[in-house]
Amino acid sequence: MTNQIKVLVINGSYRDDGITDQALEVTVEALAEAGADTEVINLRDYPIEFCLNCRECTQQPGSSPGRCVLDDGMHELIDKIEASQAYVLASPTNFSSVTAIFKRFMERLVAYAYWPWDKPYPKFRKQGLTQKPAMLISSSAAPSWMGRWLFASGRQLDTAAKTIGAKSVGTLFTGLASAEKHQRLSRKSRERARALASRLIAA
Ligand SMILES: Cc1cc2nc3c(=O)[nH]c(=O)nc-3n(C[C@H](O)[C@H](O)[C@H](O)COP(=O)(O)O)c2cc1C
Repeated sequence: MTNQIKVLVINGSYRDDGITDQALEVTVEALAEAGADTEVINLRDYPIEFCLNCRECTQQPGSSPGRCVLDDGMHELIDKIEASQAYVLASPTNFSSVTAIFKRFMERLVAYAYWPWDKPYPKFRKQGLTQKPAMLISSSAAPSWMGRWLFASGRQLDTAAKTIGAKSVGTLFTGLASAEKHQRLSRKSRERARALASRLIAA
């Protein structure tokens, strides 16, 4: 029997080996060293359709996510989310927001809401239950202090974490992330990624 913690990493970057991929590489390495079983889902390669707003998934009561009518990779991804004990959620900042592929994924998380047609607002199914830890990763061309303050990306990652029943243990927000075509992640960001990975495992 193994007590290996399962960590699911969801990556909303479009670029191979960009700042997000590099931050995730360091994080995954640190998680592996700590004995975690880590799986990375790159949303850029993952088959997810847009939410139809049919709200079928939200009509089904209970603490488990409702079943979506679409036949795509989201069923398997929700199974992976449910089977994991911790998460790393990552997306660069594009036009002040998480990327479109991360937003598309986020909208499909409406399956985590119970929202019958006669109710004006949803009840989040995982609300009030034990929370799993999540590490958040974002970046921007703007300096990090500005990015954290101005852009919605950090708050959106936090919302995605809360929706799946997780609580943030901290954010790695890398600023000045597109000063060069093939920019390398700074030593400071690598150290922060490793520190947050340890915090994730310890939580
Ligand atoms: C379409 C697009 C929109 C962007 N919008 C912003 C923005 O609103 N603010 C900002 O500071 N950087 C913006 N950037 C820069 C990205 O945040 C930066 O390139 C990214 O964090 C690097 O992540 P990656 O290396 O994983 O691709 C944008 C980049 C693109 C391509």
